[in-house]
Amino acid sequence: MVVLGIDTSCDDTSAAIVGDGCNIISNVVSSQIEIHKKYGGIVPELASRRHIEMIWPVVHEAVHGAGIPLEQLDGLAVCNGPGLIGSLLVGCGFAKAVAYAHKLPLVAVNHLEGHIFSVFLEDRKPEFPFLSLVVSGGHTSLYLIEAFGRYIELGRTRDDAAGEAYDKVSKLLGLGYPGGPVVDKLAAGGDPRAFQFPRAYVPESFDFSFSGLKTAVRNRVRAESGVNADSQFVRDIAASFQAAVVDVLVRKVEWAIIKKGVRRVTMSGGVAANGALRTRMERMAAEREIELFLPSHGLCTDNAAMIAAAGFHHLMAGERAGIDLNPRAYLPLGSA
Ligand code: KG4
Ligand code: ZN
Repeated sequence: MVVLGIDTSCDDTSAAIVGDGCNIISNVVSSQIEIHKKYGGIVPELASRRHIEMIWPVVHEAVHGAGIPLEQLDGLAVCNGPGLIGSLLVGCGFAKAVAYAHKLPLVAVNHLEGHIFSVFLEDRKPEFPFLSLVVSGGHTSLYLIEAFGRYIELGRTRDDAAGEAYDKVSKLLGLGYPGGPVVDKLAAGGDPRAFQFPRAYVPESFDFSFSGLKTAVRNRVRAESGVNADSQFVRDIAASFQAAVVDVLVRKVEWAIIKKGVRRVTMSGGVAANGALRTRMERMAAEREIELFLPSHGLCTDNAAMIAAAGFHHLMAGERAGIDLNPRAYLPLGSA
């Protein structure tokens, strides 16, 4: 089954052709970073306008790259939320028009479900059940994935998402947007023990909290006069902040492994591309002898291949989205 996936949930316009929910035939991502970085974050109105300009060129490139005409596709999967409503509207409107014109079955995919299914695009695939940590710019949630369509949200962030904390810390250090990759890089040259930042373990819960950490970093940076982006101080702040984020994420997953007795773990979303987090998660998995599944870097951040991967299962289950499909900015996944 060959599926066209489309994702326009945030600031990337993406389209991909995927076979049987696991073989990437083409995967095109058009980034808007150049547009937003001068504002230090995503400007929703600019994002939706750029999606309108890019949606057809990106889909065209994905379809031509795959060498499969639109009418020969078996279905379309589009992300209908959560995300920026103006951005989502572009992808959903476009997908409905293509599905209608070419008489193709259409399914809607939750963006978080897409991130969870990104691991199935790699050679090594997890069996059910597995624990899934989704760490991105908009979300930080831990799920128990029992089967396709059976998702239990064990916990989520009570305030900032991990990626959001990275972006905010980067901004206050004058390192620009997006913050994750640059903080990750600078942290490699810093001392993770230079500053003792708080770890919010939120006892007896699988929830997360990163706003206190962000505030602690801000207070420490403000206490320093004349912060230079190219200084050891900034590298130490980056490393100490990152150590706190990684500690909390890895400990929570470890706790879930113990409490739920599940021996398989996946991690996805933009922050899953983080070098220190991947290394620590791999070490913990080896020590506890559990199976760990990480998407390659390009599949951690937003892409449409993951939407097609999840969409394949919706199509196989016989689900169909109609012309009345509407995106939703707030769209929780699974049961609590
Ligand atoms: O999954 P994603 O592309 O979009 C959302 O669904 O939010 O994640 C983007 C987030 C941003 O906050 C970005 O700073 C963060 O992922 N990110 C990273 C890294 N690469 C991207 N965070 C930490 N380390 C990285 N290497
Ligand atoms: Zn995402």
